[in-house]
Amino acid sequence: MEPYEREALEAVTTRPAYPYSTLTVERITPVLGAEVSGVDLSQDLPADQLEEIRAAFRDYHVLVFRDQTITAEHHKHFAAAFGELRAVNPPPPEGDPHILEIRTTSAAADVAGNGWHADGTADTEPSLGSMLYITETPEPGCGGDTLFANMHLAYDMLSPAMRALLDPLTAIHDGAQALAGYTPPADYVIPKSEHPLIARHPETDRKLLYVNKAYTSRIPQLSADESRALLDLLFDIIARRPVLHCRVHWTPGTLVFWDNRCVQHHATYDYYPYARYGQRVAINGGPVKG
Ligand code: SIN
Repeated sequence: MEPYEREALEAVTTRPAYPYSTLTVERITPVLGAEVSGVDLSQDLPADQLEEIRAAFRDYHVLVFRDQTITAEHHKHFAAAFGELRAVNPPPPEGDPHILEIRTTSAAADVAGNGWHADGTADTEPSLGSMLYITETPEPGCGGDTLFANMHLAYDMLSPAMRALLDPLTAIHDGAQALAGYTPPADYVIPKSEHPLIARHPETDRKLLYVNKAYTSRIPQLSADESRALLDLLFDIIARRPVLHCRVHWTPGTLVFWDNRCVQHHATYDYYPYARYGQRVAINGGPVKG
């Protein structure tokens, strides 16, 4: 490892833990994700417990709540504690406009989210976070894990020269690129936005790498060839450095809350021909801070 990589890693692995008193937090890896216990999401959570969940979310970015029995109303109520609910776009043909069904029918050809991405980055104001509640896991009892990657660490582990090159750039995020063969409803306006390539988390001000393979199409300050080569390098770094990742194994009744502002995720379709089912509620964010 290069000295700047060691320094970046050490800064995250040696962070002091928040003194939790209303819940228990166990890290998934030293750099990303935590299992949170002592919380019942079917209840109105007391203010001090919500405050501790907010602290854990700032620190670990991916929070896993197991053994939850909740309705869609409980799910939305918990999400609403973190911001305004985000309408599913394009809207579902029927049902609740805030609930996205994540459904893999048996022997499906592919699954949603099977590539590195953060939700809604082509929007002018991308999503703050998403909460996925899985109730049906693949029949063999394994498979369908979700991978997550820490974009603060992805940035911090770059060389100082690379960080200096990237810092002033922007990137185009294009919803058309993410559609990949899917035909949206005729009245759907495909989102496209320009965001800082290196963003800052609105709550902690920490820098992070803000490009993802599903949506990011171009760095406008560079030639088409330069942009392609640099984006491919960054996508490769995100995908191929396990040090940035954690992996969540789902059990029925697990809810995972992740921060779309500083984490990317990737569904895994390793359970063909079995089925899997869950519901996702997302929260509105603000403009991407540079
Ligand atoms: C997604 O939100 O991209 C789906 C993740 C998953 O199904 O594991």
